[in-house]
Amino acid sequence: MLSPRDRAAPPRSAAGTLVAGAHGFLGLAIVAALAEAGGAPIGLIRHPDHAEAVRRAGGDPIVGDVRDRAAVVRAARGCRGIVHVASAAGGPDAEARRIRIDGARTLARAAGEVGASRLVVGSGYWVYASTTTILHDDSPLEPRGESRVNLDTEEAAFEAAPPGVEVLVVRPGMVYGDGSWFHGMVDAIRGEGYPLPYPGTNRWSLIERSDAARAFVAVLERGRPRDAYLAVDDAPIEVGELVGLVARHLGRPLPAALSPERLRDAVGPDVAYHLAANRPASNARLRALGWAPTTPDPRVGVPRLLGTLA
Ligand SMILES: NC(=O)c1ccc[n+]([C@@H]2O[C@H](COP(=O)([O-])OP(=O)(O)OC[C@H]3O[C@@H](n4cnc5c(N)ncnc54)[C@H](OP(=O)(O)O)[C@@H]3O)[C@@H](O)[C@H]2O)c1
Repeated sequence: MLSPRDRAAPPRSAAGTLVAGAHGFLGLAIVAALAEAGGAPIGLIRHPDHAEAVRRAGGDPIVGDVRDRAAVVRAARGCRGIVHVASAAGGPDAEARRIRIDGARTLARAAGEVGASRLVVGSGYWVYASTTTILHDDSPLEPRGESRVNLDTEEAAFEAAPPGVEVLVVRPGMVYGDGSWFHGMVDAIRGEGYPLPYPGTNRWSLIERSDAARAFVAVLERGRPRDAYLAVDDAPIEVGELVGLVARHLGRPLPAALSPERLRDAVGPDVAYHLAANRPASNARLRALGWAPTTPDPRVGVPRLLGTLA
């Protein structure tokens, strides 16, 4: 339950960081990584019931909507940094756009109001165009569907940030952990079947959840203003191999690969585009900040994660 302390606006540590979306898949891990690094994370949450989880992760919860300027200013008072990973689950509908994009604007303006110097925007590596080579941080972009929202969110933060507020961007690859898309993949392979694009040889870049969270901390502390950072591990993997790892663990056959037409029919054109995209990515810029993945290869990390799931 929420204590009166959570409702009031407690005095904030001067070194604090506000995490918007603190109860989310990425947000909770970022709160934990900030706490581990000696920061003083403040977790903006929508529901009082989520306070305990944020506290357990080492954060100081405060309830508010990311689009509510007064609530955000209250939560951010005394913070030097803000991280935006608030987002609505589901597709790129109007409400999801508002939470990401209006939220970015509110956070950028609130940063100026409270004297926070940095805003780190969580985006995603799906903003990049599919490539036959290796993706780098400044590779060509081709956002579609949900990734259009992520790119618009980045731009909104840059536009709204007043002088003195530095905006930085983290574009994680497929973040795997106990939640998010990984549960969906496991459930699909166990049940109806996963929409595997034919021939399954396109490569994705993944990153283990706590490694992604530490990437946010590294960018917040040492990133170069206005830069975007790809947050991926060291070992891109073919989607067929990834699905095969999960299927083997579950004792299920590899799902039949779908032709481009059948894939589009099954999941719609935007999701089909992302599933079939080739995005092997480099983490060189992030590594130059002194970050390194503790789980460099999903061929190790994914079976280990599967072993921990019920
Ligand atoms: N998961 C991945 O693999 C991945 C990879 C790359 C990039 N990303 C990007 O990272 C962002 C976060 O992803 P995620 O997987 O952590 O999402 P998530 O688990 O759905 O978390 C989003 C959080 O935002 C909160 N939220 C929603 N509306 C809000 C509002 N109006 N005010 C304040 N908080 C609000 C949600 O609150 P409730 O807890 O109350 O629902 C939730 O805790 C997304 O933009 C996503 O595109 C994710």
